[in-house]
Amino acid sequence: MSQRYTITAALPYTNGPIHIGHLAGVYVPADIYARYLRMQGKDVAFICGSDEHGVPITIKAKKEGITPQDVVDRYHAIIKKSFTDFGITFDNYSRTSAKVHHDTASDFFKTMYDQGKFLEETNQQLYDAQANQFLADRFVIGTCPKCGYEEAYGDQCENCGTSHNTTDLINPKSVITGAVPVLKETKHWFLPLDHYEDFFKEWILKGHKKDWKTNVYGQCKSWIDDGLRPRAVTRDLDWGIPVPVEGAQGKVLYVWFDAPIGYISSTKEWAAREGKDWEPYWKDEQTKLIHFIGKDNIVFHCIIFPAMLKGHGDYILPDNVPANEFLNLEGRKLSTSKNWAVWLHEYLEDFPEQQDVLRYTLTANAPETKDNDFTWKDFQTRNNSELVAIFGNFINRVAVLTQKYYDGVVPQPAAFNQVDLETLEALRAYPAVIGSSIEKYRFRESQTEFMNLARLGNKYLADEEPWKTIKTDAERTQTVMYVALQIASALAVLSEPFLPFTSNKLKSILNIDAPLLWDDIAHKEVLLSSGHTINKSTLLFSKIEDDQIQKQLDKLEASKKANAAEHAAAEAQKDTISFEDFTKLDLRVGKIVAAEKMPKTKKLLVLQVDTGIDTRTIVSGIAESFSPEDIVGKKVTVLVNLAPRALRGVESQGMILMTEDKTGKLVFVNPDQDGVSPGMTIN
Ligand code: 2FM
Ligand code: ZN
Repeated sequence: MSQRYTITAALPYTNGPIHIGHLAGVYVPADIYARYLRMQGKDVAFICGSDEHGVPITIKAKKEGITPQDVVDRYHAIIKKSFTDFGITFDNYSRTSAKVHHDTASDFFKTMYDQGKFLEETNQQLYDAQANQFLADRFVIGTCPKCGYEEAYGDQCENCGTSHNTTDLINPKSVITGAVPVLKETKHWFLPLDHYEDFFKEWILKGHKKDWKTNVYGQCKSWIDDGLRPRAVTRDLDWGIPVPVEGAQGKVLYVWFDAPIGYISSTKEWAAREGKDWEPYWKDEQTKLIHFIGKDNIVFHCIIFPAMLKGHGDYILPDNVPANEFLNLEGRKLSTSKNWAVWLHEYLEDFPEQQDVLRYTLTANAPETKDNDFTWKDFQTRNNSELVAIFGNFINRVAVLTQKYYDGVVPQPAAFNQVDLETLEALRAYPAVIGSSIEKYRFRESQTEFMNLARLGNKYLADEEPWKTIKTDAERTQTVMYVALQIASALAVLSEPFLPFTSNKLKSILNIDAPLLWDDIAHKEVLLSSGHTINKSTLLFSKIEDDQIQKQLDKLEASKKANAAEHAAAEAQKDTISFEDFTKLDLRVGKIVAAEKMPKTKKLLVLQVDTGIDTRTIVSGIAESFSPEDIVGKKVTVLVNLAPRALRGVESQGMILMTEDKTGKLVFVNPDQDGVSPGMTIN
């Protein structure tokens, strides 16, 4: 029996698309690992799915006036497609709104409940009296009790990564209404993490977990040393999995209770489809369970989920949790809300069929031991100076020369000299070297080793110069080309975990269709036999030009500007006016029935506006933002009793209310539109 692995990748939240940070931190390393193990002949279940519960989804739905289900349906499809597009080979990609998951999570809770594994407690929770609801998790922000960050969420601080209870926040504020919450009694079920302290000391501190990554082990140790406290695993919310016990009306499972169980339900879904038994993947002690996550998920995968698995009693515990640090973009923290990101679906619009270039750059710069930076310049250099100049160049030379000298047929080698023998021996050592780094979760190092094999090929050709020997020594040329073709085949196989699309392309150039396993490269005497015919060469990589990079930098610059405008200080409030003063303003809905440019001016339009009282002329300074034909027929807000005034000889009889969007363009007053944000003045 081959070793069994259950490899999980963090279930992404389904309230937005995914970006390069997700790919670099979790999905590319997990995919490299899973592909490598499959090529080693291991029994692998590579599991993921969409995390579809939790407060941010509800907030997004509220904001857009749609249901949470609409939100998750939209992003589940986008995210799933991005994973496929980037060659992430999950054996199953499920979703936590699926019935199999609701059933599995409910049963899990119920089993623990029946065994008395929860504490039932009524205590005071934050409540928004204006919105008439409890403020769970991300419905509340405030100051982090640990680091003082002022915009920490109720359940976790994004600044220092600490996870806490909403009532721990200093100066909490409701995200729904902005109100200061009050405390109100409610009943919840708690996982008594303190009961598991001895277990964690044994399992993580004394046990064999010292081989976990330093960042992971360090976070766990600090949690355990600080003393573990009970954690509520239910919430007063209406979006989620109902708590399956009496007296829990209106309560759902905490999203971090249900989400990791999603790994189990996704495995069940996969096994049912494939006609397999899911249980050994989660219950057999011989199975290695590996969780790929980002650093903000460490506590959930190393403390809370293991406590659940242990408490339930039927399950194995993770063997390793190779968490990565964060990726920055051009020196700044990636941010969905600030649109400071490279979205995967947008990347593919600008770099179609260049998924491997991104995979390669993200692995080369993977934030394995510290936060790291993605820059577009580095992306271009990695492509042009490494993929094109080393790997691509070697393959192109080999394929073109094989066609030119031998009509595409792999030649018969003559006697190997010392250099040939050393080269072939070095080649055979690569699978073990690359594999050993992968097994230690050092993906950057493993990819560098892989590229060293391409470098070896390049150097071999440059030193042996078959383009010169072809004129003088046919036998020597055959031998050199034969060796070069063996290196090319090894590259076709060993590139698969890192550059899967390139690997396929190369296999098709070399006309390799029999599946080669990882260790075949070390053990097979011949990888590409003499007499085998290869196909015509196509380029593996193409150069990325400066203007392509500039376009990406311009996009980011635009995001920066938009954010700056959005966060520019709002104008100071004017003096207070009385209600009587306010009632003096006669504001009406008007309809623009005609519009033309005021001759010899840049800014003014002369409008005819139907105010319901009359149709009157209003001169408005909006010509730089609208052309006349754009606005005829539009309904606008008009101050009709403003004293008339002459502008360039035309009497203006009122004023249309306008504001500016974040790019400085004027827009008609309709606060509920893109680009308009709190604090903008209306005039
Ligand atoms: O941080 C996140 O994106 C979470 N949705 C990860 C969940 S992982 C798991 F436990 F499901
Ligand atoms: Zn903090």
